[in-house]
Amino acid sequence: MTDLHVVDAGADEADEVVDVIHAAFGARPYLDPPSSALHETRAAVAATLAEHGGLLARVGGRPAGALLFQPNGTELWLRRVGVDPRLQHRGVASSLVGCAEEVAAERGYDTVSLTARVELPATQQFWLRRGYLEASRSGPKIVYSKAIPVELDVPTADDTRDLGARLGAVLAAGDVVLLTGELGAGKTTLTQGVGQGLQVRGPVTSPTFVIARLHPSLVDGPPLVHVDAYRLGSADELDDLDLEMSLDDAVTVVEWGEGRAESLSVDRLDVVIRRHRGGDHDDSDGRHVKVTPVGPRWLGSSLGTSLRTALG
Ligand SMILES: Nc1ncnc2c1ncn2[C@@H]1O[C@H](COP(=O)(O)OP(=O)(O)OP(=O)(O)O)[C@@H](O)[C@H]1O
Ligand SMILES: [Mg+2]
Repeated sequence: MTDLHVVDAGADEADEVVDVIHAAFGARPYLDPPSSALHETRAAVAATLAEHGGLLARVGGRPAGALLFQPNGTELWLRRVGVDPRLQHRGVASSLVGCAEEVAAERGYDTVSLTARVELPATQQFWLRRGYLEASRSGPKIVYSKAIPVELDVPTADDTRDLGARLGAVLAAGDVVLLTGELGAGKTTLTQGVGQGLQVRGPVTSPTFVIARLHPSLVDGPPLVHVDAYRLGSADELDDLDLEMSLDDAVTVVEWGEGRAESLSVDRLDVVIRRHRGGDHDDSDGRHVKVTPVGPRWLGSSLGTSLRTALG
């Protein structure tokens, strides 16, 4: 299709980035107050790019879209996200944002945030479609935020348990965790760690023959409900287990939950465990874990920071 490339932008790309900003923001309808982007100077953009970086998208070699990075604590803010109106509908904005989220993950940020104007519903839809949530609103500005997935290498079973324990330490009553991974990936091992972190009565074992098991807290915290959804056909059957009753009061961890248990809560953590496959090596060593936060619960939670310090 289109010859679309997204590159890291530094001070050298400032001219192209400023051109895109002026083209993109100049084409918007009149806003009151107007965006200061229209007065963005080359010098200011070059300084921002030199300090924090940004992204530039080119279509057929022409500058087509751009954004600037602005770190703030554990959040990476995107500023001046814009596409040249002559080069719209080529996936430029989507590619930029996808790349920005990868940069955020690589640099260890927990959240990507930006502001959008209330007068521009199409822009709002764009961010909502990409999983951004309205974090706050003030005057004509809406802040959209998205919690960034956390990816970790987990070399041994003990590390899987350790990661689970750190996860358990940040989980609260009402939280739902869906574990996905092939047979023997380490789902139960991770849940054992969650049980340790929550300080519930063990042992946490594979619940294969019971579908769901309740582990009461030893410290007046939430109990752990450990579910094996492998044999469940649908979310309806999960509902029949009467899990809803305890959901608000318990931490619910569901093995094989993907495609079955999403409806349990608008807030959840999707955890995918994969084996490392190192060439001819056996497939038993090491795992890769990706934790994707879903829902407003995780905005501003610093989940990534908590989990990463875990294994450091
Ligand atoms: N990070 C890791 N590196 C190497 N081995 C691991 C790791 N994590 C777990 N294991 C090992 O993988 C094996 C299977 O773990 P576990 O029973 O937790 O998997 P599971 O995903 O629950 O399996 P099932 O699909 O049968 O429910 C165990 O022997 C466990 O010690
Ligand atoms: Mg298991």
